[in-house]
Amino acid sequence: MQLFSPFCPSCRENLARNGDSFTCSRCGRVYPLKNGAVDFLTSLPLSDAQQIVQATFDAVAASYDNAIVRLVESLSCPWGTYTGKLESFMANSSGKVILDVGCGTAFPVGSFVPQTSIYLGMDISLEMLGHARALLGENLNAALWNIDAERVPLPDNCIDLCLALMTFNVFPNPHRAATEIHRVLKKDGVVFGTVFIQPPRDETFQERPIAPDLVREILSVFDPALWELSFETQGGILFFHVQKNVKI
Ligand SMILES: C[S@@+](CC[C@H](N)C(=O)[O-])C[C@H]1O[C@@H](n2cnc3c(N)ncnc32)[C@H](O)[C@@H]1O
Ligand SMILES: [Zn+2]
Repeated sequence: MQLFSPFCPSCRENLARNGDSFTCSRCGRVYPLKNGAVDFLTSLPLSDAQQIVQATFDAVAASYDNAIVRLVESLSCPWGTYTGKLESFMANSSGKVILDVGCGTAFPVGSFVPQTSIYLGMDISLEMLGHARALLGENLNAALWNIDAERVPLPDNCIDLCLALMTFNVFPNPHRAATEIHRVLKKDGVVFGTVFIQPPRDETFQERPIAPDLVREILSVFDPALWELSFETQGGILFFHVQKNVKI
């Protein structure tokens, strides 16, 4: 599937598609397809913290979907309520370019992606992406990239709708990821995300709760004069939404 070209994460040159992989004409790096996802991490060093997160999610990938349902419900948010909010947000995503940062297995959002949209899932764990590929199948316009959310290989202002579902709890540096989301989002784009704000009963993947004030601070890269931020909570889950400030 041909999307707009990603750029080389090392030298920012536009990449040429080469079958299912990408090649950089400037530095010669090749980004191959592995497990149904393009591996952009081959030449990028990860920090120790990122490697730990990557290894953790590689290890839990096969049981992740059950674990996230248990986690959400253990925080007094019925799974149907959680997916209902996601589904109603995705109802406006027809024909849109969707970036899912830290998409993991693409569960449960994969089932709400319209056939007419372009879905771009990015994750640091190739194992999680392997499950995402299986869930999404080959029918959707879906590309999966194994990349660090702090270094999204996309041009500025190209994404209509960005998802950050249960990710700010585990990103080693959520501020940098938010800066990248802000950079690639169109000026009339929208962000929808979730975080858990209470400690889960059983620790599944070294997740840490995150206070609403910290979410607000992470998202402060979106200038409040231009963007409107709204929060909603259900049990220990916070849903956040960033959209263009219509009052200006
Ligand atoms: C708790 S899971 C959330 C998965 C999915 N979005 C969901 O709603 O269930 C967090 C995901 O973030 C990914 N992740 C962690 N750090 C990352 C980084 N620096 N860049 C990209 N993905 C990262 C993990 O591999 C994992 O798949
Ligand atoms: Zn390059």
